[in-house]
Amino acid sequence: MGANQSNDGMNLSQTAKDVADGKYKNIIIMCGAGISTAAGVPDFRSPSIGLYNKLRNIKDLPYPEAVFDINFFRYNPLPFYTLVRQIFPERLCPTATHKFYGLLHKKGVLRRIYTQNIDALEVLAGVPESKVIEAHGTFRTGHCTNPSCRQPCDLPWLKSQIFQPEKNEGVPKCAKCKGVMRPDVVFFGEKLPARFWDSYGADFEACDLLIVMGTSLAVAPFNGLVAKPKRGTPRMFINKTKPGSVGFVGWVMGFGRSSAKFDSPTDLVVLQDCDATVREFCDQVGWRDELESMPVQILEAGAVVTPTIQ
Ligand code: OAD
Repeated sequence: MGANQSNDGMNLSQTAKDVADGKYKNIIIMCGAGISTAAGVPDFRSPSIGLYNKLRNIKDLPYPEAVFDINFFRYNPLPFYTLVRQIFPERLCPTATHKFYGLLHKKGVLRRIYTQNIDALEVLAGVPESKVIEAHGTFRTGHCTNPSCRQPCDLPWLKSQIFQPEKNEGVPKCAKCKGVMRPDVVFFGEKLPARFWDSYGADFEACDLLIVMGTSLAVAPFNGLVAKPKRGTPRMFINKTKPGSVGFVGWVMGFGRSSAKFDSPTDLVVLQDCDATVREFCDQVGWRDELESMPVQILEAGAVVTPTIQ
């Protein structure tokens, strides 16, 4: 298989032409950690540089995935925050791919983004929260784990606490009750947000172009969404590597073998860097200058979200 695999008429240029001609009005994006690697956030499964590889250096973990397990977090939150301190970039800035999402919204053709990422970059890129379903939760908000307190917090506050481990023994504490604070991410053992379940039926019924980017599609139930658009709906898979196995839960969600392979006549597989592909695509649509000048917000080291023109 070459870098671009088209099974029939689907190719990047034709899809760009269709976008330029206004053929698609309800584009859905599905994405994962690969869209944020250029922003300095590691992905999970890339060999040697992925996050699951870094976990080997974290002390007191019975097994690597325990760092994202809610029961282990309740027992000992320190390994989770130790990892977050290691991977949280000093400066969090949306990539060309995130700007592309902002541009699709600006053009009025974005139905929804389903993201597995918790880094808030879609929103920093100017996509309204209502258009983003953060299937695995988010770092944008958090709360106190003490059930009788549940004091909320935001990302700048949480980040500032995470980076002052000498003041809180490495674990952010509630200003009101001293309970352990947590981000609103979905740990293993927790439910996906209600918005995910409430939205995907109508969204994928309306979807006229699905773009899947920067994800191994290894995690259910998220990966099952790729089979949800109506038959014949064009699907683009843009990723450095081929999609992974979907497993039993993905299969139950309706993710058949053929879907996993993106081998229908209306599928296009582009095995390339997502930012490079987005730039190539925008060149062809005639959106390149607009893409590069999209306004974004940046989370700076001083934990301030600063509006800025790139
Ligand atoms: P993975 O690490 O499994 O997959 C990221 C994919 O992005 C890989 O296939 C890479 O080849 C690809 N990639 C990396 N950089 C890229 C780039 N610049 N351009 C294009 N592709 C690139 O991450 P996810 O699929 O997001 O869940 O992982 C899904 C879930 O697994 C996460 O949300 C997390 C984890 O367990 C929870 O914590 C609940």
